[in-house]
Amino acid sequence: MTELLRPHAEQEYADELAALAKVDDRPRPPRWRLSPWAVVTYLLGDTLADGTVISPKYVGPRRLVEVAVATLVTDRALLLLGVPGTAKTWVSEHLAAAICGDSTLLVQGTSGTPEEAIRYGWNYARLLAEGPTAAALVSSPIMTAMTDGRIARIEELTRIPSDVQDALITVLSEKTLPVPELGTEVQAVPGFNVIATANDRDRGVNELSSALRRRFNTVVLPLPASAEEEVEIVARRVEQLGRSLQLPEVPAAVAEIRRVVTVFRELRTGGTEDGRTKLKSPSGTLSTAEAISVLTSGLALSAHFGDGVLRPSDIAAGILGAVIRDPVSDRVVWVEYLEAVVRERDGWADFYRACREVTG
Ligand SMILES: Nc1ncnc2c1ncn2[C@@H]1O[C@H](COP(=O)(O)OP(=O)(O)OP(=O)(O)O)[C@@H](O)[C@H]1O
Ligand SMILES: [Mg+2]
Repeated sequence: MTELLRPHAEQEYADELAALAKVDDRPRPPRWRLSPWAVVTYLLGDTLADGTVISPKYVGPRRLVEVAVATLVTDRALLLLGVPGTAKTWVSEHLAAAICGDSTLLVQGTSGTPEEAIRYGWNYARLLAEGPTAAALVSSPIMTAMTDGRIARIEELTRIPSDVQDALITVLSEKTLPVPELGTEVQAVPGFNVIATANDRDRGVNELSSALRRRFNTVVLPLPASAEEEVEIVARRVEQLGRSLQLPEVPAAVAEIRRVVTVFRELRTGGTEDGRTKLKSPSGTLSTAEAISVLTSGLALSAHFGDGVLRPSDIAAGILGAVIRDPVSDRVVWVEYLEAVVRERDGWADFYRACREVTG
């Protein structure tokens, strides 16, 4: 196989999916590659009876994942909701990969998403030459999922203009997509369902109509419950990313990972871990996803321009970039935090110096 910069989940974890399918003797819903139990195991990780290790993809409450998977067995669609960086997209990709072996039937929601992206479009050359025929019709990812009995994914559903969102109502309630130009309709076969993601922060941009909302079961993905859990998530993803980007090996830097996670959590929650100092929060979201990217950039700096060990100076600039989104107000928040908290903390002197240097 040719090397890919970023394989789809079903490609990257093909071995795990095959191993699960082999041991999985529980009932599978129509057209599902795995039973609901095996899908949950794929997401949360486990060691199978035959010794195969299934790596955890999502770290969080088991019940949440069970509710999400159980929803997809029913006639209701799944809406993953949460603040930025809580793995909504990640979970939706892995669910689709595990359930139907295809995570690519994807509609990216933006304010410019046209109705064709949800219904169908036309190949204009053929349309002009032949008129509206089945061969001139260009299926949308949703339509393909309906005819093949697969999972379609819609990213950032709330960003899609509400009249375009409405095209989904018939699809989700009647499971049909009328094609008036051909005088036909496409009827979904079993196995079809939709996973949508939406960001808490976008709420209100295009508030979901209640008609559409009722077609979804909502699962809210939380921020990591504890610092330890967040460190674990970040460590695992940074290691995976480093490997797939083929960065030179840099020894596991748990201390620096813990430091980034601590800084982000404290600024996000507006207080120090010991609860003694109140802090102001900067305007940007300091999510787990940002922590992962700060550390990945740090590893690249350390591997190519440093001494091959992740040092505070490798992560300071990244942290600064994530925290200071607004050059004036966020800077004030950051400097206060540096002086009141970072400077005083035991064992953080080198980190304080590195931050001071890039902050100027
Ligand atoms: N609980 C978690 N378990 C595993 N990985 C996580 C978790 N939280 C965040 N991540 C990681 O964070 C990264 C970003 O996640 P993702 O892009 O799915 O977030 P999102 O919720 O879709 O954010 P946005 O709202 O910005 O689209 C992924 O690499 C994912 O692995
Ligand atoms: Mg996302």
